[in-house]
Amino acid sequence: MSRRTGLDERLTNYGDPAFARYLRRAFAKSMGYSGQMLDRPIVGVATAASDFNNCHRLTPELTEAVERGVLGAGGLPLEFPTISLGEVFLSPTSLVFRNLMAMDVEEMIRAQPMSAVVLIGGCDKTVPAQLLGAVSAGVPAIQLVVGPMMTGRYRGERLGACTDCRRFWARYRSGEVSEPEITAVEDTLAVTAGTCAVMGTASTMACLAEALGMSLPGSAAVPAVHADRLRIAEATGAEAVRLSAAGTAPDRIVTRQALENAIRVLLAIGGSTNAVIHLAAIAGRVGLSLDLRRLNELSDSTPVLVDLKPTGQHYMEDFHAAGGVHAVLHELRPLLDLQCRSVTGETLEERLRHPPAFVDRAVIRSFDEPFQPVGGLLALFGNLAPNGAILKRSAADARLVEHEGRAVVFAGLDDLAARIDDPELDVRADDVLVLQNAGPVGAGMPEAGYLPIPARLARAGVKDMVRISDARMSGTAFGTVILHVSPECAIGGPLGLVRSGDRIRVSVKERRLDVLLTERELASRRAAVARPPVPARGYARLYAQSVLGAELGCDFDFLRRA
Ligand code: FES
Repeated sequence: MSRRTGLDERLTNYGDPAFARYLRRAFAKSMGYSGQMLDRPIVGVATAASDFNNCHRLTPELTEAVERGVLGAGGLPLEFPTISLGEVFLSPTSLVFRNLMAMDVEEMIRAQPMSAVVLIGGCDKTVPAQLLGAVSAGVPAIQLVVGPMMTGRYRGERLGACTDCRRFWARYRSGEVSEPEITAVEDTLAVTAGTCAVMGTASTMACLAEALGMSLPGSAAVPAVHADRLRIAEATGAEAVRLSAAGTAPDRIVTRQALENAIRVLLAIGGSTNAVIHLAAIAGRVGLSLDLRRLNELSDSTPVLVDLKPTGQHYMEDFHAAGGVHAVLHELRPLLDLQCRSVTGETLEERLRHPPAFVDRAVIRSFDEPFQPVGGLLALFGNLAPNGAILKRSAADARLVEHEGRAVVFAGLDDLAARIDDPELDVRADDVLVLQNAGPVGAGMPEAGYLPIPARLARAGVKDMVRISDARMSGTAFGTVILHVSPECAIGGPLGLVRSGDRIRVSVKERRLDVLLTERELASRRAAVARPPVPARGYARLYAQSVLGAELGCDFDFLRRA
């Protein structure tokens, strides 16, 4: 009874450690474990399965495979559930709950006896929440993503959630697609378990977890239903046992250099704008910050290599077959810090000694013949966004990236819903649509930045307009959409001072976003702004009082490392 085992870690405090150990083992034995099994190193398996999360449907199968790997490598796997964030089932937004899940993950890792943890997640906010929690908990951790969905078919056309969801919805709004057709399309958009089939936020974060070194090499893009996904789960379990012996805490993997490598990959894959928020939050958990001006430097020197929806043609299953993240890293090699280590202990240099066996150049281009010569994301600054805003330039209409137009302002989501399709709305194709009060405090930062083209203009064939907000945009969406404007409207940010008819100027060349008003005029409007009331209780109150701006990853102020 005197020998310390994995189960002896973090004993419940009764003022008598020997009694606590004896009691814990007695209760663990009630689950049928032998004494020898309880002496093994314990690998926690954090799962986020839920009937409100379609993407995580195969979590039980993955958990079984992870446990097989842990047992085979001499550990004892113990599964524990955490909150699950199913993107489309949460209100007001999934981002609001990312920090709640991160706290759940962190506290349960820290509170329970485990020498390492496997994090099984996938849907948009779950991987960042798990990484945030694990980094702060400081226990050796390894990420296993559930993998992307396969594509469906509609009348011979390949469809994948959720770029094609939006494309068909836009065609339905413009009258090109009928009611029965849109209903039939609904049946074919999401046809298997797994995360969205394009380079949306979930796929982006899966690739970034691999690029950061927090998941096994080659694991990000394997489809959810592929047998390799189970083999990766088994290998992840085995790796977790080795990681527990090495004792490598996540902050030794998530370094400044690893974060810059991850940003390079984000840019090269044409990844989601949401990833900028999540990487900023992860950086804050290890005492670093993600400088948006540095993002621009990296963006100007990193080509887009991957031809995937929403900006290109292909789907995640094609990306996997084409060579996946390994092929991208190989192309980016001259730009990467090769001394970064992954959870396997291997440096990137050691990993990249093995070139990919095959690369499909239709999907993953070479460094010398990229899909686009510069990175997909850009930060803009100006009197409308003193702390920055994000534009996915790879998804923007080239004719709109140098633009001046009249603002058409919506004061919030309700106003947008009430007026966007009003036939009387005074709006022209060269106007700039502005959505206010949709930032982290204002509305939980919904993915509402992809404002619909007003129905009258959509029917006339207008496909894109400049749209500006303090909201986010789904990683699966596209268009000339300027997001994450900070400071947000609800805390007095200048975007909230804009009125319909003001002139707005966007210049990607100059990295500027400005309203053509004097500072004096802005100051007089600012004096009249009232802040929204703080909710009276519960998580909503904690959130409203503690959430930081988009440039700091919308983390809570008290969760960042000082
Ligand atoms: Fe889960 Fe898209 S809904 S990844």
